[in-house]
Amino acid sequence: MLSVLVLHGPNLNLLGQREPGVYGHETLDSINQLLRQVADLLQVKVSAFQSNHEGALIDAIHAASGQHQGILINPGAYTHTSVAIRDAIAAVAIPTVEVHLSNIYRRETFRHHSYIAPVAVGQVSGFGAESYRLGLQALVTHLRTLP
Ligand code: DQA
Repeated sequence: MLSVLVLHGPNLNLLGQREPGVYGHETLDSINQLLRQVADLLQVKVSAFQSNHEGALIDAIHAASGQHQGILINPGAYTHTSVAIRDAIAAVAIPTVEVHLSNIYRRETFRHHSYIAPVAVGQVSGFGAESYRLGLQALVTHLRTLP
């Protein structure tokens, strides 16, 4: 069975209480629950991990080699700063989809650039928790149509 690693970056553990006007009222637990439901329907396995530490996210990406066939990542603010996370994704060469709850392109200009996008299969941004569902569906479709 295909296995997907779901990575949540910094501050996403505070979802539900954190700027609800921007990020909505859903908690990280409810997003992970939604992803488990979608995974059941798609007949894939998901393992979710959240960290506020860049190095821990990089370690998780390295450890995904040989364990997971795809990565779904919301890198949080590291999206806009982390060459190291981008390099880790490029290094393991595991198909990766980038997701954001908010539409990063209609927010502050410093959020308009993603270091991750060039090494991602694609990006879903702006649909709240739905971004994760769409991202997981698209990633699984991509993995299933790989030659
Ligand atoms: C975010 C967008 C980022 O700019 C921000 O730093 C986050 C969350 C999102 O999901 O909308 O922490 O990745």
